Amino acid sequence: MNTKSILLAYASRYGSTQEVAETIAAALREAGLEVELQPMQEVKSLDNYASVVLGAAIYNAKWHPNAHQFLSQHQEALRQRPVAIFALGPLSTGETAMLRSRRQLDKELEKYPWLKPVALEIFVGKIDPAKLSFFERLGTTASDHRDWKAIRAWASSLAAQLQQAEKLFHPA
Ligand SMILES: Cc1cc2nc3c(=O)[nH]c(=O)nc-3n(C[C@H](O)[C@H](O)[C@H](O)COP(=O)(O)O)c2cc1C
Repeated sequence: MNTKSILLAYASRYGSTQEVAETIAAALREAGLEVELQPMQEVKSLDNYASVVLGAAIYNAKWHPNAHQFLSQHQEALRQRPVAIFALGPLSTGETAMLRSRRQLDKELEKYPWLKPVALEIFVGKIDPAKLSFFERLGTTASDHRDWKAIRAWASSLAAQLQQAEKLFHPA
């Protein structure tokens, strides 16, 4: 089991979470880990993975529906593997915005009391009004405050955390 790779599964409506997932996958690979990157809805089974990293954005206080679908569909397998989670949410770097998104995510994750992530992080997201519908666009302005340094730093610490956790879940 320890030789198996990490699954990094993401749910992204407008692409910014996918780019963050790609950056995290690259950082984990730089740390010597084997990583498979896939959109959540394309994952059929977790059999080939020793651990799972899930990344999805928040929209209107709700986590991406594919993330909910993934947690329900793979509950049994996820209980048996270390799981790390990241979400994209706030559009500004302010503490209030960050806390608000964090509370939204916590509320969503409360629906899965069996889920005990080994790491949980929120990153500032990106918004491009040109990609939104007329009503979604109202009152929004373009912004991209994604903190790539923070994203890479989290991924680097995650490499060690996942390896440590895998030993607990899958003792040699
Ligand atoms: C219509 C809409 C609603 C949003 N609502 C929230 C929200 O309630 N809470 C939050 O933290 N972020 C919210 N966001 C910010 C998104 O999470 C952010 O734009 C993210 O980077 C989008 O990811 P994606 O490009 O992968 O779809 C919202 C974005 C959009 C477009």
